[in-house]
Amino acid sequence: MNGPREVPGATIGVIERYREYLPVTEVTPVISLSEGSTPLIYSPRLSALIGRGCRIYLKHEGSNPTGSFKDRGMTVAVSKAAESGARLVICASTGNTSAAAAAYAARAGIQCAVLLPSGKISIGKLAQAFVYGAVVLALEGNFDQCLKLVRELSTEPGISVVNSINPYRLEGQKTAAFEIIDALGDAPHLHVLPVGNAGNTTAYWRGYVEYYKLNRATRLPRMLGFEAAGAAPIYHGRVIEQPETAASAIRIGNPASWNLANAAFQESGGAIDIVTDEEIFAAQGWLASKEGLFVEPASAASIAGLFKCLSRVTGASRPIPKIPDEAIVVCTLTGHGLKDTAAILNDRIKPIAAPADKTAILSILAKAK
Ligand code: F0G
Repeated sequence: MNGPREVPGATIGVIERYREYLPVTEVTPVISLSEGSTPLIYSPRLSALIGRGCRIYLKHEGSNPTGSFKDRGMTVAVSKAAESGARLVICASTGNTSAAAAAYAARAGIQCAVLLPSGKISIGKLAQAFVYGAVVLALEGNFDQCLKLVRELSTEPGISVVNSINPYRLEGQKTAAFEIIDALGDAPHLHVLPVGNAGNTTAYWRGYVEYYKLNRATRLPRMLGFEAAGAAPIYHGRVIEQPETAASAIRIGNPASWNLANAAFQESGGAIDIVTDEEIFAAQGWLASKEGLFVEPASAASIAGLFKCLSRVTGASRPIPKIPDEAIVVCTLTGHGLKDTAAILNDRIKPIAAPADKTAILSILAKAK
């Protein structure tokens, strides 16, 4: 199968853009949806809030083809699965990994099965898995139990697991760090991320270190991770049996990349901390209404985290570092807001009933000022 590289005018994906840094060869079929090359958006209001000459950029990963950062890793994982002749790709997911796996498997012509915690996935993400044609299995259990089962299935012949325990996933995801350095001309001083299964933190750190060693950057960023307060195993240093948060994408109590992410926080001089659901939803609303960027709740954890850095009222075992003057800060916005509208429907969507009448509407608008 030809990748977009061979098609004039088509946007290239991360394998073609960063081929020399990825574990692919000439014989690897490139299964791509032209993912990556996502916008790095300057945030004037966040920059003004932090002040002191700091510049805040937002890496908008919701712009990927399936609406989350997972596409970067999935193009590599599914390309390698196709190369190995896999007949089925499988994953456990809180929703975004399954959407990406289903899409890339469809593109590759390989069957896909997804194991999801029953009733715990946003309807938008569930719809994606169905539309892309995956076999969708809802398990009576949480994400951690789904992942355990997937690990058990991984030894079956012809099955390729595309969770981030598959090393190709993290390889693909590290390209986001490359893009940031390529765009800024250097690494940021701080990188802020939401943390769930902890693969993305690990992948970014790997990307930053790799480019730094190749002299593409003069510095390494401090990595700052934020877990949801009710699902914070790394922060508390223990498995959380019943993780709880309305940010369903990061409702994880036993992350697969726990140790690797911890190493990233330590080596980078960064920290792991928590944000409450209240702070997450406040940050989501703030970002949408002040900067015009609608992200899903899990993604807003990085913005809630940045706000927490400002107040520095934190219980982190390794305290959040102070944002230095003139710092360049990147926050990753991991998934699009349209992925999970149900999470905000109840309390925030209150349209005003209006008659179909110009004068009445003008009067309502005058009151709404
Ligand atoms: N943000 C979103 C939107 C996610 O979907 C995830 C993880 C994360 C952040 C956390 O990233 O796991 O690398 O630390 N979602 C996974 C999934 C678990 O199944 O879609 P992480």
